[in-house]
Amino acid sequence: MSETAETRAEDPAGTGAGKISVRDLTIRYGDKVALSGASFDVYENEIFGIIGPAGSGKTSFLRALNRMSDMTPNMVIEGDIAIDGRPVRSWRNVYALRRRIGVVFPLPVGLPMTIYDNVALSPRLRGIKSKAKLDEIVERCLSRAALWDEVKDRLGSLGSLLSGGQQQRLTIARALSQDPEILLLDEFSIAVDPVTTMRIEDVLKELRSEMTIVLVTNLVQQARRLADRTAFFLTGELVEVADTEDLFTGNSKDPRTRDYVEGRFG
Ligand SMILES: Nc1ncnc2c1ncn2[C@@H]1O[C@H](COP(=O)(O)OP(=O)(O)O)[C@@H](O)[C@H]1O
Ligand SMILES: [Mg+2]
Repeated sequence: MSETAETRAEDPAGTGAGKISVRDLTIRYGDKVALSGASFDVYENEIFGIIGPAGSGKTSFLRALNRMSDMTPNMVIEGDIAIDGRPVRSWRNVYALRRRIGVVFPLPVGLPMTIYDNVALSPRLRGIKSKAKLDEIVERCLSRAALWDEVKDRLGSLGSLLSGGQQQRLTIARALSQDPEILLLDEFSIAVDPVTTMRIEDVLKELRSEMTIVLVTNLVQQARRLADRTAFFLTGELVEVADTEDLFTGNSKDPRTRDYVEGRFG
């Protein structure tokens, strides 16, 4: 079956509760448990925040979700993660899965190519050849990532020559060029200045109506600003998932969550 046929044939309207449903998910590296028995749902068109100190299993969850785990030695996944009711482990063609999921890492991963090509690569791989169509996609994705005005006169220069904040926005434009249903961000602002961070936060608010966003953040206030609901991970335990507002108004169920969001540890 072709990739497209597989995507179509095995992409049901959704039998699980959420866009992403996680059931009894345990992640191990050899004997080391990175996440233990987590169950939760991420709903369509929400920003779902994941907070927690370093080493809590946040990145491991993202790896399991888009099957980067396949390439990670010793990484063992038990339980289920499903997108639209379909377990991610059932995708034979992992690239077809990953195309639906845009990923933004903590540090911008610039492809060693021009700004234009960074954004045009994925559409080209999907078979789009028309220069006019590619131009339109490049402009649209760069605009949506709040980068177009700064780079429109130098689309032919190397992405790696941009500033760190610009490169992170280029990474977002590239993720958008896949036309993803789900966007994963892993501590995107760790190496980005506060002004760029705010610009990217505005971008995410705009994107929420079109895709499902999982925002792993080391900044609890960023979760408060952006996330509809937030999960608190603590050394491999999903402590709780709640409406973000509840977590920040003293209505968390677990005292550890309160301590963390109030800055008493982490
Ligand atoms: N490739 C790996 N091999 C072994 N242990 C790992 C690997 N990646 C992460 N871990 C361990 O798994 C736990 C969770 O890590 P991670 O998911 O990166 O946490 P977070 O993103 O919340 O900081 C940590 O104890 C970490 O040391
Ligand atoms: Mg991490």
